[in-house]
Parts: sequence; C-alpha cells; structure tokens
Amino acid sequence: MNSDRTTLLTGATGLLGSYLLRDLLFAERSVAVIARPTRRASAHERIETLVRGWESSLGIGLPRPVVLVGDLDRPLCGLGGADLGWVREHCEQIVNNAASLTFRGVDRDAEPWKTNVGGTVTMLALAEAAGIRHVHHVSTAYVAGLRTGIVLEDDGNVGQEFGNDYEASKAEAELLVRAAPHLDTATIYRPSIIVGDSATGYTSTYHGYYAALRLGHTLLTRVSLGSTSGRALLTLLGIDADSRKNFVPVDWVSAVIARGIASHSARGRTYHLTHPEPLAMEFVAEVIQEAVESYSVAAAPDAPDLCDEQWFADHLRVQLDLYQRYFRTDPSFDHPNTSTIAADLPCPALDRDTLLRMSKYAIQHNFGWFPPDAVVTELPRASSRRGTLAH
Ligand SMILES: NC(=O)c1ccc[n+]([C@@H]2O[C@H](COP(=O)([O-])OP(=O)(O)OC[C@H]3O[C@@H](n4cnc5c(N)ncnc54)[C@H](OP(=O)(O)O)[C@@H]3O)[C@@H](O)[C@H]2O)c1
Repeated sequence: MNSDRTTLLTGATGLLGSYLLRDLLFAERSVAVIARPTRRASAHERIETLVRGWESSLGIGLPRPVVLVGDLDRPLCGLGGADLGWVREHCEQIVNNAASLTFRGVDRDAEPWKTNVGGTVTMLALAEAAGIRHVHHVSTAYVAGLRTGIVLEDDGNVGQEFGNDYEASKAEAELLVRAAPHLDTATIYRPSIIVGDSATGYTSTYHGYYAALRLGHTLLTRVSLGSTSGRALLTLLGIDADSRKNFVPVDWVSAVIARGIASHSARGRTYHLTHPEPLAMEFVAEVIQEAVESYSVAAAPDAPDLCDEQWFADHLRVQLDLYQRYFRTDPSFDHPNTSTIAADLPCPALDRDTLLRMSKYAIQHNFGWFPPDAVVTELPRASSRRGTLAH
C-alpha cells in the first residue's frame, strides 16, 4: 500500500491548483490529479492543455501527472475499482485544493456547501478507503470570519461570526479535516485574498480584488454614472478608505504550499499564507482608478448599449452588500509557522506597478469572459532553473 510517494491533487484546473501542479511537476514530484470534464474538453485534455501551457511558459519539458477522472460531488469522487486500486497502491498524500468560491448560499445541498463541505467529506472518505494518512487542506485566512485583533495560526473556531457562507463552509471543512480519525497528519494552509502572478499578472479566476476592479471597469465602460474616481468607487462599495486588506500573489502561495507538501517535518501544522504588509483600500482604489483609465475603453456617450443608473442598480447593487462585508478591515494574521518553512521565500511586494500589471491582464482578458468560440491557452512566461522557480 502507498509504495511510492505520489501526491494526489484536487482542483488542478483552478488558479491556485494550476500553479500547484506546475510547481509539483517542476520539482519532479510524482503527481496524480482528480479532474472533471467540461462540455468542451475531457479531464485529460484539460490537464494536458495546462501542462503544455506551463511547458511553453517555462521553456522546458515537464513530466505528466496521472489523470483520474473524478468529481467531488460523487462518492469516492466516482473513482472505479481500478482507479481506486491505483490510488491505494501509489498515493501517499492528498492536497485538497478544490473548492467553490461562491460567497452566498444557505441551501446546504448547493454551493458553496456542496463542494467545500460535501467535497471535503468525499475527499476524507477517499483517503480512508485508499489508506492515505496525510492530507494537505487549502483553507482560507477568512475562516477567522469577522474577528478583529490578532488571529493565531493555531486558532480554530472561537465562536466567530462569519462574513459570508463561503467563510462558514471553509471553517466547517477545516474542522472536518482536523477531526478525521484516520489521518496521521492534517496540514492546513490559509491564504488571504489570492491575486494573480506577481511577475506576469496572469490569473484565471476573478474574485476578490478583481471584483472591485471589474466594478470600476464596468462604471467606465457601461454606466453613465460619471465619476470613476477611486474615492467614488470606495463610496459605492461602502468601503472605509482606511481599511486594510491582505492580498497575496498566487505564485507565492503555491511556492509555500509546495514547500509544505515536500517536507515531512512541515506536516500537521496550520500556515497563514498572508502578506506582511496589507494594503490600504485607498491605495487599492487609486490603482483601480489608474488601471481602468489606462486599460479600459470608456463607452461613448451615444453608445447604443450604454447602460444607465437603473441597470447599475438592478445588476450590481445586489452584489455590493456582499463586498461591503468582504472589504472590511482584516485582522492581523500571525505567521510564525509559515516564516519557519518559507524563511527564504518572502512574499513579493504588491506595489503599484505589480497591481497595475495584474489589472491590465484582467481587463485585457475581459475578466475571463470570451466569446463562446474563443480559445485561450495563454499562460504566463516565467523564468526557471531546474529545481527553482522564480516568482
Ligand atoms: N481565490 C482566493 O482568493 C482564495 C483565497 C483563499 C483561499 N482560497 C482557496 O484556495 C483554493 C483554490 O482556489 P482558486 O482561487 O484556485 O479557485 P478556482 O480557480 O475557482 O478553482 C477551483 C477548483 O476546484 C475544482 N472543483 C470545484 N468543484 C469541484 C468538484 N465538485 N469536483 C472536482 N473539482 C472541483 C474546480 O474544477 P473545475 O475547473 O472543473 O470547475 C477548480 O479546479 C480553494 O480551496 C479556495 O477556497 C482561495
């Protein structure tokens, strides 16, 4: 059982998962992924496209992961006898990275509960069935909910109120992983708000920072509200200009988790993957203003599809109360465990130029929305040496 040291990764087709896949393959680790098909591509095709993209971006060949077609919505991910036998024989640890980033949903049969809690139950059942005794679980720093002050890496649930159902579902999932009696180690990673690649600006998902950027972009391109100033944006979002939020680039988050996956002595702890220098929302709003004024194309006053305030009220305001809670001031996340395993991996600065690069990427890629027939396979260029990825 578990005769080699394959790492089984979920969520490899997502933003963080694609970087984890890159970093694990680059480090020449044996990797298997659980992935599901889309209407357009099989699970194998999706993973092959990703790995080819990384090969082209890195300028080197990469080994291929074993692709297991599976879905966290199905018992044991729907893995049949042969696949389950293969997992039992080869996999030593699971990286449970798949999740739903849906913020709101009270129905526990729907997102975010279905994937975040139900999917974690499924992953734990798979670990038990396959005799896997080590789980690395990607959580979020916002399991701290609406807490203020200092949040310790070792803090679990302390009766905190949550800002949304996503946070509550992730907190519940953490508890399930920690309590699983069949695991020897549960290692928890808690990133703050993940943004794009610190070097290239690349992203494939558009949550958090990008939601505010998209609002500024929409104001400029679709709504005749007049002002797109950073201050006006903060007012619209109901955000205190002095509040500070914690953003971390995806390449750094992945590099630290890959470090944790590779080190037996790192197992069993909780890691805050948070930035030592949270950003003032006033600065974030200024960057958003500069980005939309530089990269978005303002709608002409006589554009036929120009929307008015009523459109704005109907389509966007319903989302704003979510983001008002989301962009509240963060607590201070302590991070001694992360500092121990990643002392030589400082989190890259998120300065104006870096945020502008990320914003430009998002705007130029239309926040991930493309006409149905568009094919987008571009991945960022990254410099590489065997054994080390620059980030
Ligand atoms: N983004 C952030 O700001 C942030 C911050 C803190 C923590 N996190 C955590 O980081 C992790 C990765 O987030 P991300 O931003 O990379 O998310 P993402 O881009 O939305 O990717 C989510 C991944 O989960 C997979 N998935 C969802 N439901 C699944 C199911 N039923 N079966 C199999 N796979 C399923 C998706 O597969 P498909 O491609 O097939 O849909 C995708 O690969 C999550 O655990 C998230 O909670 C994210």
